This record gives sequence, C-alpha cells and structure tokens, in this order.
Amino acid sequence: MFQTVSFLTALMAVAPFTAVLAQNAFSGAVGFGAVATGGNAGTIVYVTNLNDNGTGSLRDAVSTSNRNIYFNVSGYIELVSALSLSSDITINGQSAPDPGVGIMGREVSASGKSNIIIRNFRMRQGNLDPDSKKSAFNMGKGSNIILDHCSFGYGVYDTIDAVGAVNITVSNSIIAFPIGQQFGAHVETGPATFYRNLWVSAHNRQPLSKSNTQFINNVIYNYQAAYTVANTGGSFSHDILNNYFIAGPSTTKASNEYYQMDAGQSVYASGNYLDSNKDSTLNGVEENSVGSSVALSAVWESTSTGLANLTAADAYAALVATDGAGALPRDEVDTFVVTTVQSLGTSGKIYTSQSSTGLTNDGYGTL
Ligand SMILES: *[C@@H]1O[C@H](CO)[C@@H](O)[C@H](O)[C@H]1NC(C)=O
Ligand SMILES: *[C@@H]1O[C@H](CO)[C@@H](O)[C@H](O)[C@H]1NC(C)=O
Ligand SMILES: *[C@@H]1O[C@H](CO)[C@@H](O)[C@H](O)[C@H]1NC(C)=O
Ligand SMILES: *[C@@H]1O[C@H](CO)[C@@H](O)[C@H](O)[C@H]1NC(C)=O
Repeated sequence: MFQTVSFLTALMAVAPFTAVLAQNAFSGAVGFGAVATGGNAGTIVYVTNLNDNGTGSLRDAVSTSNRNIYFNVSGYIELVSALSLSSDITINGQSAPDPGVGIMGREVSASGKSNIIIRNFRMRQGNLDPDSKKSAFNMGKGSNIILDHCSFGYGVYDTIDAVGAVNITVSNSIIAFPIGQQFGAHVETGPATFYRNLWVSAHNRQPLSKSNTQFINNVIYNYQAAYTVANTGGSFSHDILNNYFIAGPSTTKASNEYYQMDAGQSVYASGNYLDSNKDSTLNGVEENSVGSSVALSAVWESTSTGLANLTAADAYAALVATDGAGALPRDEVDTFVVTTVQSLGTSGKIYTSQSSTGLTNDGYGTL
C-alpha cells in the first residue's frame, strides 16, 4: 500500500512529462504528428522481399492495421500501383540493411488513415507513374501522422499532399525535385509541423500552408516561391522560425521566399535568413517580413521556441550533414540533392522528369 501511494505520488509529480513521453511516436519525435503511436504496440511483421505484392512484400505488410513493420531487405520496391497504407502502422525503414529501402514509381497513400509513423523511407514517384493527379506521399484527410528522416522525390501532383490532414509532422526529411506541378507540400486543416527539412528545387508550395503551422529550422534552396499561403480566405497562425532561404539558378525573385501571405494570416517570423546573391557562399541577411500578414509579437504555439534551437546558419550545417533516409553515406539521389544545395546558388534546376537529373536507373538512382 505504501509503495502504491508513493508510486502514485511520484507519477503525479512527473505527470506532465510522462504524459508527453508516453504519447511520443519515437524518441526525438516533435511537433503535432508526435502524438502518433503507429503500430508500435502491434504485431511485428518483416518485409522479406522487394516484390510489389504477395507474401513478404511491403504491400502485404501494410494491408492490415496494428503492424510494426521491419525490413530484412534493402533496395527499391518498384510499385506497379499506388501503395495504400492501413491505419495504426509503423514503417521502420532504419531496420533495413544498408543502404536502406524505398519505393519508386507510384504514390504512397495514407489518405483518410490515422496514426502512422514512417521513418527512414524513400518515396520517389517519378514519371513511371502514369497518373498526373497523384503525389509522392498522400495523407489527405489523414490524422496523427509523422514522417521522419524520409526522402521524398520526383513528386508529380504535389510531393506531399496533406489536404484535410490533422496533426502532422514532417521532420529531418529531404523534399526535392518535384517534376509535375513542381510543388513541395500542400497542407489544409492541420495543425502541421515542418521541422529541419531540406526543400530543394521546386516552383512553389514549400509548403502551401492553409493551416496553423510550425515551420522551424528548414532550408529551402533554389525556389521560385517558398512559404506560401496563397491568399486563402482562411485565417491561420504560423510560427516561422530560424529557416534559411537560399536562392539558386531557378530563383527569379528571391523575395518570393514568403509568397502570397495575405492579411488573414497571423505570423511570428523570427531568425529567418535569406541568401539571395547566388555567390557560392552562405552569407544571407535576416529577413522576417511576411507580406500583408499580421505580425505576431510571440509564437502562437508554445513549443515552437524550444524547437527553434538552431540558428538558420547552424540549421543549414546540420541539415546538409544529416537529413534524408537511410544511414550515411547517402544514396545517389540524396547525394545529388545535397551537392546541389551546397553549391549555394550556382547549381540547381527545376526538373520535368527524373531522367533529366542524369542519375543512373533512369534518374531514380541505384540503391
Ligand atoms: C503483383 O506484382 C507483379 C510483379 O510486379 C505484377 O506483375 C502484378 O501486376 C502485381 N499484382 C497486382 C494485383 O498488382
Ligand atoms: C527477418 O529478420 C528477423 C529478425 O532478424 C528474423 O527473425 C527473420 O527470420 C528474418 N526473416 C527472413 C525471411 O529472413
Ligand atoms: C490531434 O492531437 C490532439 C492532441 O495534441 C488530440 O487532442 C486530437 O484529438 C488529435 N486530433 C485527431 C483528429 O486525432
Ligand atoms: C533541439 O531540439 C530538438 C527537438 O526537441 C532536440 O532533439 C535537440 O536535442 C535540441 N538540441 C539542443 C542543442 O537543445
């Protein structure tokens, strides 16, 4: 009895912390998607081949809820149709032997699904997908979803479609080289957290955020437009902290780093830098002016300040060192993405197909 009481007392004393930890997707998970528990407590299922379907395939593994998925194989799974995830799933790409795993050729979809964790996984759609209305990853109308250390590439409609998505995080990921509409991510509803991602060579939507949003410690390179709200009718709050916007060869107007920020938006922008001179050196200036939006004097979301623990310049160094899927050294595509960023203004192109990158395997690179 005495023990029970003191245990309860101890529990109450630390309750705020245990509550947060118990809910977290994984150690180090941050933002609104960190509430996801995925299939962590579910059945462990191993992916044992790279087939599109059938026993041992990823498609088979994700076909049932409450699964914690590990990989015995590495390499690309070439999809022949979109891969539709079930709810309550964890995909542990970091369990694959080096150099890790990914899909190529079709959309990965969590549309309408909830409670999903995806880590260290590559999603490279490309023009093997005949459907121009699909994206590299679709979480439209989904909820409680976290993507960490993923590599998204060659998205056709959007790279990440999150229209109608609730409680999402994308962190430590590479979101690069969209080829169709040439867009990064489209969020509506939210709330959404974008934390420490590298966004590379897109026309716009990095992200398009019609949502209450945390946008913290990101690097956006070779953009035509970057953070945008697109003059929506909706009113949202945005914490935009310590990001680095870096112009590249495709950047026609560097001041479009904040784009279509209308008067309905409330924005706390602080510690953001803009390097507009394309001179191979990281030498930007602080730039926190967000168009017609209402400037807040403090964060709208209390966790934002603690998350913004790198300066924009330190975020640049950290992201080029560690972002993306799989163990280091990076795979061919991510190496090319990061080399492009490191040119700091002199290289980069907004592509219309993965082939035009000139990388092996018709531009998908070899795993
Ligand atoms: C299963 O995979 C094989 C090999 O990729 C493919 O030919 C077949 O169409 C797939 N089946 C379905 C139902 O998609
Ligand atoms: C996959 O890996 C797990 C864990 O190491 C192992 O228990 C299982 O036998 C492996 N499956 C195959 C088919 O290799
Ligand atoms: C979103 O997360 C909050 C906790 O932060 C939770 O109360 C809410 O129910 C979640 N929304 C959905 C749709 O699960
Ligand atoms: C910065 O915040 C992240 C996310 O909470 C945390 O993992 C990291 O340890 C923090 N770093 C420092 C130097 O505080």
